[in-house]
Amino acid sequence: MALLEWSDALVLGESRMDDTHREFVDCLNALGDADDASLVAALDRFIEHSDTHFADENARMEATAFPPAHCHVTEHANVLNLCREVRQMVIDGKIEVGRVLARELAPWFTQHAGSMDTMLAYWLNLDDAGRSEALRISQEKQAEMRAAMVARGEEAETAMSCGPGCAH
Ligand SMILES: [Fe+2]
Ligand SMILES: [Fe+2]
Repeated sequence: MALLEWSDALVLGESRMDDTHREFVDCLNALGDADDASLVAALDRFIEHSDTHFADENARMEATAFPPAHCHVTEHANVLNLCREVRQMVIDGKIEVGRVLARELAPWFTQHAGSMDTMLAYWLNLDDAGRSEALRISQEKQAEMRAAMVARGEEAETAMSCGPGCAH
């Protein structure tokens, strides 16, 4: 059974990202279907895909000065590092860890595509004027939120970080 079915819910409306994400789902399902003997090869293929997939998004974030690039790039790096660690564990005989990773990657991707990648696709589909306007509105909203937090006596800088584990 497929770990993740492609569906309209995963379509972002940015053709390069959508094509890459279809390939991600194929590689993930191949990982889910792999038997013990072919698990490392399927992991290698998945890692090879993810390396290219994430590097392409990272490069496009940098090229367009995507504001929340920091957290997005960090999440890509964390997932790739985890996959490489698990690959070594599978080679060392811990097959079940590879199975757990494959199962967990499906909900991770659904969440990632629905949040960070959705924002990136929206940003990439804007022209320069649209990006400037989106940035202006976002900065205005952040300033309003900071002011409201300071008025309530909250630590605005801490509260405005991207979430647990974010270092920026
Ligand atoms: Fe992606
Ligand atoms: Fe991404």
